[in-house]
Amino acid sequence: MPQNDPQDFLSVNPVFSRAGEATQVSKTRIPQGEMAPETAYQIVHDETMLDGNARLNLATFVSTWMDSQADRLYAETYDKNMIDKDEYPQTAAIEQYCWKMLAGLWNSPDPTGTIGTSTIGSSEACMLGGLAFKRLWQHKRRSEGKSTEKPNLVMSSAVQVCWEKFCNYFDIEPRLVPISEEHKCLDGFELEKYIDENTIGVVAIMGVTYTGMYEPVKAIAAKLDEIQASTGLDIPIHVDAASGGMIAPFIQPELEWDFQLERVHSISTSGHKYGLVYPGLGWVVWRERQWLPEDLIFYVSYLGGDMPTFALNFSRPGAQVVLQFYLFLRLGFEGYKKVQQASQDVALFLSRGISEIGPFELWNDGSDIPVFAWRLKEGHTDRWTLYNLADRLRTKGWLVPAYPLPANLQNLTVERIVVRNGLSMDLAGRLLDDIREETSYLNNLSAPMPSERKHPGFHH
Ligand SMILES: Cc1ncc(COP(=O)(O)O)c(C=O)c1O
Repeated sequence: MPQNDPQDFLSVNPVFSRAGEATQVSKTRIPQGEMAPETAYQIVHDETMLDGNARLNLATFVSTWMDSQADRLYAETYDKNMIDKDEYPQTAAIEQYCWKMLAGLWNSPDPTGTIGTSTIGSSEACMLGGLAFKRLWQHKRRSEGKSTEKPNLVMSSAVQVCWEKFCNYFDIEPRLVPISEEHKCLDGFELEKYIDENTIGVVAIMGVTYTGMYEPVKAIAAKLDEIQASTGLDIPIHVDAASGGMIAPFIQPELEWDFQLERVHSISTSGHKYGLVYPGLGWVVWRERQWLPEDLIFYVSYLGGDMPTFALNFSRPGAQVVLQFYLFLRLGFEGYKKVQQASQDVALFLSRGISEIGPFELWNDGSDIPVFAWRLKEGHTDRWTLYNLADRLRTKGWLVPAYPLPANLQNLTVERIVVRNGLSMDLAGRLLDDIREETSYLNNLSAPMPSERKHPGFHH
């Protein structure tokens, strides 16, 4: 019997259905019978058609384009399971080549003697870094006969949500240092107030998700040196370099944020952000093998021996790891530098253009990672907000999210652009024209716009 509730059923277009086939399919119950592959393909294809245009999605950090050789390699390797080290020894070897290259890129004192792994993304990579901190701290506390009941982790209130998840899932107290107009990110200010004997580590972010700013890892490490001198507490740093880990080495090589700083135990990054690979890839590397406690490591069989693994998942696609290796070979240091520099040139062009329109004030300009945020100048208008501007831009296809900053600046709304490979200068020029036009439209409205709505599409 035909059902017409569009909540529950998808209709099958008679043009591509066949005699005897259903004309409606349930969205919530697995169908009893089969369907011609062409029909099923068309239905699923059409369902995804209403998703936004990935090239105009300036909310996401994640890669939306790779070249045709990468697409070919992807198609050749999407059947590989990363955990099957014994069955796919070359994919396992490629994973090792990649993290060793990253260890070198991040100035590890011994890139081949240390340890690292691929992950499904930065969230898993961050959690592995955090788990290593927790276990090391537990070992030390137990050896001193002290309690391990109340571990805490110190970080900015502007951390990505994966750190809040980590603390929640693994029973750790999150100690969030609030950001302010004077201290726009964690910079060591008043850090001593948050650290005690139960602190398992400090997170420093290279490329704060909300704004794109680098936290000054060197200054944070220096502050921790001072704290150690006065209290004896030796607190390690994990650098969440989800974006910056693949930007800073190429275009800010003078910046000391990585394993040059002894206090940095581990660094994570997203292969699928500025690593330029399709989604499903993160990396974490430890400065020295000793910073990943042995009792966290599991061994899987590999070429008649054992290979160490440390992961939250078991099965995971291996193709992205192969794609990362392809890009490391294909682009090399010089190629990555050119791609990242091109993105930064576009970010600086856009941030300058936006600051010159009039009503906007930049929070930062995209000179760290190619990401920047702006706010409405105080007193400019109470007739429209950045949410209205985001909505107006959406009607032209641009996805440019507006959202509140975290504690203690939650009353401040910003709008952010993430410039990725693929947002050309030409497209950026068109975007700037559209921002100018929509700003002028909003400025000329005779009645105030409806009040704000929640931040659509913000990746935090
Ligand atoms: C600083 C930071 N850390 C962690 C993450 C989580 O990364 P993923 O989406 O790869 O899990 C993000 C994502 O935006 C991020 O910006």
